Amino acid sequence: MGTGSFAQNQPTIIPIETRRNALVLQTDKENHLGIIYFGKKLSQSAEYKSIPSQSRQHDGNAGIYNSAYTPSGTWSVSEPALQLTHGDGNKSLDLVYVSHKTTKENDNVSVTSIVLKDPVYAVEVTLFYKTYFQENVVEQWNVIKSEEKNPVTLQKYASANLYFIAKDYYLTHYNGTWAKEMNPEEELLTAGIRVLDSKLGTRANLFQPPSFSLSFDKPATETEGKVLLGTLAWSGNFKMDFEVDSYHNLRLIAGINPYASEYPLASKQEFKTPSFIYTFSENGKGEASRNLHIWARKYRILDGEGTRMTLLNNWEATYFDFNEDKLSELFKDGKKLGVDLFLLDDGWFANKYPRNNDQAGLGDWQENIKKLPHGIGYLVKEAQKTGIKFGIWVEPEMVNPKSELYEKHPDWVIKQPQRPEHYMRNQLPLDLSNPEVQNFVYGILDKLFTENPDIAYIKWDCNAITFNAYSAYLEKSKQKQSQLYVDYVKGLYKVLEKIRAKYPKIPMMLCSGGGGRVDYEALKYFTEFWPSDNTDPLERVFMQWEYSYFFPAITQSAHVTDWGKQPLKFRTDVAMMGRLGYDIVVSHLNEKDLKFSQEAVATYNSVKDVIFQGDLFRLVDPKKNDYAALMFAAKNKSKAILFSYLVGNRNGDGSDTPFRLEGLDASKNYKVKELNLYPETKSALKEDQIYSGEYLMTVGFNPIVNARRTSVVVEITVVN
Ligand code: DGJ
Repeated sequence: MGTGSFAQNQPTIIPIETRRNALVLQTDKENHLGIIYFGKKLSQSAEYKSIPSQSRQHDGNAGIYNSAYTPSGTWSVSEPALQLTHGDGNKSLDLVYVSHKTTKENDNVSVTSIVLKDPVYAVEVTLFYKTYFQENVVEQWNVIKSEEKNPVTLQKYASANLYFIAKDYYLTHYNGTWAKEMNPEEELLTAGIRVLDSKLGTRANLFQPPSFSLSFDKPATETEGKVLLGTLAWSGNFKMDFEVDSYHNLRLIAGINPYASEYPLASKQEFKTPSFIYTFSENGKGEASRNLHIWARKYRILDGEGTRMTLLNNWEATYFDFNEDKLSELFKDGKKLGVDLFLLDDGWFANKYPRNNDQAGLGDWQENIKKLPHGIGYLVKEAQKTGIKFGIWVEPEMVNPKSELYEKHPDWVIKQPQRPEHYMRNQLPLDLSNPEVQNFVYGILDKLFTENPDIAYIKWDCNAITFNAYSAYLEKSKQKQSQLYVDYVKGLYKVLEKIRAKYPKIPMMLCSGGGGRVDYEALKYFTEFWPSDNTDPLERVFMQWEYSYFFPAITQSAHVTDWGKQPLKFRTDVAMMGRLGYDIVVSHLNEKDLKFSQEAVATYNSVKDVIFQGDLFRLVDPKKNDYAALMFAAKNKSKAILFSYLVGNRNGDGSDTPFRLEGLDASKNYKVKELNLYPETKSALKEDQIYSGEYLMTVGFNPIVNARRTSVVVEITVVN
């Protein structure tokens, strides 16, 4: 037990600064660390000491609300960030400031760490704030350490505890389900706690992602207002508490969901929380999301500053019904289309219980000899002969009860031994808390790559949530069942870490029956994600728009399919706003459609760098207008690609009122040219019309969508 004295006279002030913003922490008389300021940074940092402390411990008020990491069971009776039971059964925790330091990783990245200690018990918490100066992004996490003799039990162990002072708070959060992902709702936060959470385990984001935007004073627009974009980098259960306190200030606590997740911490062990990542802007959501995109591409996403391949996927073209001949034809189709890669989807494996539908075979990762008598190796070679790369689908975390794997290793499956099994899509998650299962999952990928070194792409799926959370492994190894939700995710990251150590570059798509799993921890290992199985392009205009607040276009897989009623051009234009792929029967395309698609792939290849690495400007919001418009502008302002879509059919026409473009150089002239024209149609835009950047950004421009041309892609190129 530590009993150090922590008294001091002068408050310690710790500013966590980026280029534009500051989070200022300060100790109070009792050495508790609170947040005294969040927002635009002051030009004279010495003035931070004039900011009044937010500590309020009078009139029977509930302790200090603004704690930088709220403990539980002592002076604070607010929603805690850290709640635990000590080795002796005592549930009280106090955290006082001990020390802090800032380490510079390079000119742009610094880490401030602040040590807090319980004066009575040997529990220590280090708060970490990693700042990305130019991008105005902060990544925050904590390390909790115990030196108590007996294990401590962590009940709630959040990643971030922030405090905001504003007139009002508007929270935009997202809800959805399969094929209906990312429906935004904005609400004024009122007194009490608003919770965003998931208890779904494996496919944690199915109903709600751990990403939100929070506007201060009034709802922010794309170009105006104070707004924070926040997201938790964790592929499991999460909980975010937004509490408007009795002073109308806002407490935010975000982290792993404590639900059924008490976690033991042995002596000298450390628990590192996942990262909470946020950016703040005084100039609206557009600037905030561009900052997040730049950060993500540079520091987070695997190969974020690289490029992506176009592909042909066979899922909707064949579902489970294919054989070698059919696939060879599809390789040729892919080649004809001009894409880089063929992606073989579900259905290629399992023999005793063949994977001919979604009821059997998951877990048995041997080629189905009826469909593929010559194995994957043969397919890879055939594809290569045709001049196309080969990629493959796996769902390695899952098992069908009808499988050899289930028969052999029922104890590897997450299920309650005494209760009926409960399925989603006829399957169950494997128990990734078990190191044997981790090895098995790693082995699936390792075997595929070792036997077929030319496999060029992986789609990693995950189609079931976690019911009946119980681990035979944790039971046998005398660990706690309440570790399962957390240890599952840790196990998953261990596997991905090992895969990336051996195969650092191979592109992988993060899929979870759609957007059931996308976050910035997983995206360390994946190059892109599958936003939704819903590929109706009209729906995708909205979904991709919402995802774009948090994830740059280079991460969003978008395929041209037969979903929806929109013409091929519309479907293609929408898919071009992300990593373009196709999931159609190419041989069913008529001559004109094929020609259009071939040209579209070539056009896309010539502009995709601007889409992947450029700045995104959302110009006309489809939720509020009959049409949508957005543009990607190259950093050096030499080129931009503008997309516009008719989304409302009430008037049948979009507006012809010019809307202001952004991201161009006002002093330069630009040539405007329509791309992706359907064969034998003429552009409604005047050929090679020149406008100044000033004109385009002041008066504006509208390529006009209407019932006769429902989508438009425009290239804007600097001429002088
Ligand atoms: C769900 C995915 O979202 C689909 O794209 C497809 O891969 C199927 N699983 C295959 O079972």
